[in-house]
Amino acid sequence: MHLLVLGGTVFLSRTVAETARDAGHQVTCAARGVSGNPPDGVEFVQVDRDQPDGLAALDAAEFDAVVDVEVQSPTRVRRALDAVGAKAGHWTYVSSGSVYGDEETTGQDAASAPVVAPPPKGSDETDRELHGPFKAACEAAVREAVGVKAFVCRAGLIVGPRDASDRFGYWPARLAAGGEVLVPGAPDDLVQYVDVRDLAQWIVHCAQNWVVGTFDAVAAPQPWGTVIDAMATAVGGPEVALTWVPGPWLGEQGVAPWAGPDSLPLWLPLPAYAGFMSRDVSASLEAGLTTRSTAEIATSALEWEQVLGLDRDRRSGITREREADLLAAWHAAV
Ligand SMILES: NC(=O)c1ccc[n+]([C@@H]2O[C@H](COP(=O)([O-])OP(=O)(O)OC[C@H]3O[C@@H](n4cnc5c(N)ncnc54)[C@H](OP(=O)(O)O)[C@@H]3O)[C@@H](O)[C@H]2O)c1
Repeated sequence: MHLLVLGGTVFLSRTVAETARDAGHQVTCAARGVSGNPPDGVEFVQVDRDQPDGLAALDAAEFDAVVDVEVQSPTRVRRALDAVGAKAGHWTYVSSGSVYGDEETTGQDAASAPVVAPPPKGSDETDRELHGPFKAACEAAVREAVGVKAFVCRAGLIVGPRDASDRFGYWPARLAAGGEVLVPGAPDDLVQYVDVRDLAQWIVHCAQNWVVGTFDAVAAPQPWGTVIDAMATAVGGPEVALTWVPGPWLGEQGVAPWAGPDSLPLWLPLPAYAGFMSRDVSASLEAGLTTRSTAEIATSALEWEQVLGLDRDRRSGITREREADLLAAWHAAV
């Protein structure tokens, strides 16, 4: 198979290119080449999807399948579809769980869950507040142009090597340091994510085996307590002891959920976001998504954290000082 990866220089798209190359496929990566380098052993074509004719360098090429990871610009998505949609036999678009309109109901699946409406005409395509609506618009553009050959996979939290978001990696990094670890929420809360290598493998599998339709791209939900215990066993440092602290109390202390400064990743307020990490992914697993163990994911994520530097200022997570203050306040309160 000759696979065109629109991107291929950074995180997921680069892992897709590597995975396809390692499986013996011919791979072309097309990007501006400003965010990183494509992997060795693939062809690189310079394109700029911000220019109306920015994909002209692909005019003469033929591809069996295309993978597009465009974040939220329907204009860029349409430019790619106009340039190579007609000649591709299969089209993957990586969407996101942020297209869903009901964040609270647990156990929803991709086939029946409600999706938000596209943004009002003329909205700013870079507006992150409109990420879900713009993702929905990108999906719609793909279906309109190449619907019968489209594989739309809605990713949840993507974790693993080359993740620059500092979210999931907070936990293996923190556990590896040992001692008393503040854990938000309760052991029965569900968490859900996908390792970037599992998602890449599934995308290549779907292109090769002509899997089409719309699917969630996350592993099955797991109890948070099971996940953190497995991580602690795999990568935990000396004398790890978990202290569970309820989410509402953490909220009162100003700790942010999910991501960003002074946040605790993988924690979401419940029940408001109970639907976000409890998706029924039976259809995705039937369609070939395989997922590696928590221990393997945690070990790789820790290795990546070590590359980034364990003592760096994080984009997500809390500092050790903040954690110590919170633990002291919690112990004093109960
Ligand atoms: N990370 C998560 O947890 C998460 C969760 C849910 C959904 N998703 C979705 O997953 C997808 C993967 O994201 P990612 O961050 O992993 O992608 P990525 O691998 O970083 O790929 C993005 C690619 O786009 C290229 N690019 C950017 N601007 C371009 C332009 N104007 N013209 C041509 N190429 C351009 C970049 O290369 P150059 O800059 O060099 O051009 C880069 O190779 C996204 O659709 C995201 O919404 C991610």
